Amino acid sequence: MIIGVPKEIKNNENRVALTPAGVAEFKKHGHTVYVQSSAGEGSGFTDEEYTKAGATLLPTIEEVYGIAEMIVKVKEPIASEYNLIKKDQLLFTYFHFASSEELTHAMIKQQAVCLAYETVEKADRSLPLLVPMSEVAGRMAIQEGAKYLEKPLKGKGILLGGVPGVPPAKVLVLGGGIVGTQAAKMAAGLGARVVIMDVSLPRLRYLSDIMPQNVVTIMSNEYNIREAIREADLIVGAVLIPGAKAPHLITRDMLKTMRAGTVVVDVAVDQGGCIETCTPTTHENPTFIIDDVVHYCVANMPGAVPYTSTLALTNATLPYAIQLANKGWKKACTENDELKKGLNVVNGKVVYKGVADAWGLEFEEVAAVL
Ligand SMILES: NC(=O)c1ccc[n+]([C@@H]2O[C@H](COP(=O)([O-])OP(=O)(O)OC[C@H]3O[C@@H](n4cnc5c(N)ncnc54)[C@H](O)[C@@H]3O)[C@@H](O)[C@H]2O)c1
Repeated sequence: MIIGVPKEIKNNENRVALTPAGVAEFKKHGHTVYVQSSAGEGSGFTDEEYTKAGATLLPTIEEVYGIAEMIVKVKEPIASEYNLIKKDQLLFTYFHFASSEELTHAMIKQQAVCLAYETVEKADRSLPLLVPMSEVAGRMAIQEGAKYLEKPLKGKGILLGGVPGVPPAKVLVLGGGIVGTQAAKMAAGLGARVVIMDVSLPRLRYLSDIMPQNVVTIMSNEYNIREAIREADLIVGAVLIPGAKAPHLITRDMLKTMRAGTVVVDVAVDQGGCIETCTPTTHENPTFIIDDVVHYCVANMPGAVPYTSTLALTNATLPYAIQLANKGWKKACTENDELKKGLNVVNGKVVYKGVADAWGLEFEEVAAVL
């Protein structure tokens, strides 16, 4: 199959969908890979590394879309790319159709085959192509939180791990899923005193088993949260209720009970945030202050560490991309239910219920297009 890797052109997107190692893997299976010049630059991969791995470089995005049977990308196509997409062309990338009506209509019009990273789903209902970005964001939440606890950045001026004779900071993690677990591990590793809260007792049992001694698990409820935020130096919001907006676990009035210079990192801000006062920010301007509480609410945290994020993402996507290239999308999706769940829009038909419902479009069973 002919694979195309365009350079990401969405604002501030430095990731790339395929590393030189990924190119070599495709070549091993007998495929042809075209990469747009400088596509890997933002993640630290040079054109030379891609050609060495066996890719052919193309100078423009038009040529990449023009020649490829399968496009592998990171972010959804933006308006200037819509008309480059050909009928029957397979696009394997994040789409998040339910948050963009314009994109959904554009992909219907182009008659492409849109396989979305975010809806590829395993039998246990986990989302293997979202997990790596949650892992990055969870670990990063502590790194960023520790930074904003510094006095010049308006934090309390407390070192996360303390020093001998001085107690470490107190970290509260709301939600013990992928993001929360990684955040708690990082904070604990730095020597902080960590509390992790979740509503799932089985999850708390698991966390209690695997976490080090300086992590305490507590049931998440309003009473316990009110108690904990009075003491916490750093709070990480990591709650998710699938398909719904995040619940506001910390409301506006509760900020007054927190000490000046407390830092909140609301990773769940992309789902509305679990701290009422959080609104999305960017890497250029990541924080704002309300009631002396520093709010860090960057909606695409992994974007700041494109090298790590690219490797983490491609480790997860490559095995699926290879199956698609080896078998063609129809056979690959017929034989692999995880991939089949990734199909969203196929040749003008919406085959993912959530997307059809989001925009009041006709829904077609996926079996009808396979
Ligand atoms: N900002 C970013 O750059 C970025 C990056 C990756 C993920 N995220 C977001 O981070 C959030 C968490 O993602 P995840 O992968 O860890 O999800 P996850 O499903 O693995 O974990 C969510 C956890 O929240 C728990 N929960 C639900 N209601 C709760 C409550 N009231 N109190 C405490 N816990 C509760 C669940 O039991 C679950 O364990 C999502 O909103 C995701 O979109 C943001």
